[in-house]
Amino acid sequence: MDNEILKMQTVEKRFAGTFGKSKGDSRDLRFFAAPGRVNLIGEHIDYCGGYVFPAALTLDTVAAVRKNGTASTVRLAATTLDGVYEFDLEDIDRAKTLRWGNYQAGVVKELAEAGLEIGGFDMVFHPTVPIGSGLSSSASQETVTGFAVNALFGGKFTPVELALAGQRAENNFCGVNCGIMDQFASAMGRKDNAILLNCATLEYEYVPLDLGDNLLVLANTCKKHALGASKYNERRREVTVGLEEMQAIERTHGVAVPRDNLCSYSREELKAYAPEIKDDTIRKRVLHVVSENIRVREAVEVLKKGDLAAFGRLLREANESIRYLYEATGEELDAMFDAAISFEGTVGARMTGGGFGGCTVNIVRKDSVEEFERHVARLYTEATGNTPEFYACSVGDGARELT
Ligand code: GLA
Repeated sequence: MDNEILKMQTVEKRFAGTFGKSKGDSRDLRFFAAPGRVNLIGEHIDYCGGYVFPAALTLDTVAAVRKNGTASTVRLAATTLDGVYEFDLEDIDRAKTLRWGNYQAGVVKELAEAGLEIGGFDMVFHPTVPIGSGLSSSASQETVTGFAVNALFGGKFTPVELALAGQRAENNFCGVNCGIMDQFASAMGRKDNAILLNCATLEYEYVPLDLGDNLLVLANTCKKHALGASKYNERRREVTVGLEEMQAIERTHGVAVPRDNLCSYSREELKAYAPEIKDDTIRKRVLHVVSENIRVREAVEVLKKGDLAAFGRLLREANESIRYLYEATGEELDAMFDAAISFEGTVGARMTGGGFGGCTVNIVRKDSVEEFERHVARLYTEATGNTPEFYACSVGDGARELT
């Protein structure tokens, strides 16, 4: 809570310095927060209609926002950057040329297109989710923008609709073909709970994250992933081909109406059809997607029973799958994972998020966290030459107005 007040003071100070103090009613400056997320299991399957199991973090983006009295001028700033980034609501696409502010502009455009009557406003962001770490710093900025703009101009959208607007912004404005997991977790997170989300239907369930004598520790490779420029969109194309192949094979087996998403194949169907996929790469991608989806449900079942050892084993299996079948890790994440599982007090570990850099998430016995960090840092640095960062990971609430 104190931390929250501190963040509000930081962002308010920058706001006053950049856009001036509030006149008269000081309550016209409003504050919002939206968190980053950690995904516990269910990686790279949100865009295949699968189950995912993310949790919102207490690392977040806090923002201060105020109408500026103009019809169409939007001015953005951040506590981590110099300058003001400005665009006009009449020509939001020009914001694509800004050095910063794309996620925000994309959300504003989506909300305007969905019928929100938006006027000019000023907004300052204070991001505390490490950028490029696989912890959804971008989704936290999209979500906080959506919540703030929606509240300022009529509040007609639900949190889930705002999450969807954030996803569309990233797809349409920023060129990353992401799924819904990150924005959903940021909008809908709940303290001390993870969210079991069915990405095909958006049905969800909160599951208490009771880890007993263990803590979640995030280990940052400090290698930035660049989702847009990297292999993310390539993986999406591969699984589109994968689904087409599976459907074609089903037809040759006499199935008249094939499945319409990869995650709806069962283990048995996977066994029957996948060996017939000729292309090795496509076959591996399909094997990952279908098996990961099954693993998510198993993991949630064992977690509900309090069987953390089994939960940890499934996390490791998930890592093997994304590493060898989906090939979305890379030297740094592999070194971090290998270091983590060579430590005795590690209950479970895996990469988390989009991959190709970013963080691993680890379940570690409370009494051995310091030793874990020392051990992992030493091995990771020996293997890669990089210095890692660690964060104790606490699970917080989703996006909200701060008062
Ligand atoms: C990124 C995307 C998500 C999801 C993950 C991988 O975080 O934004 O939609 O696909 O990668 O699970």
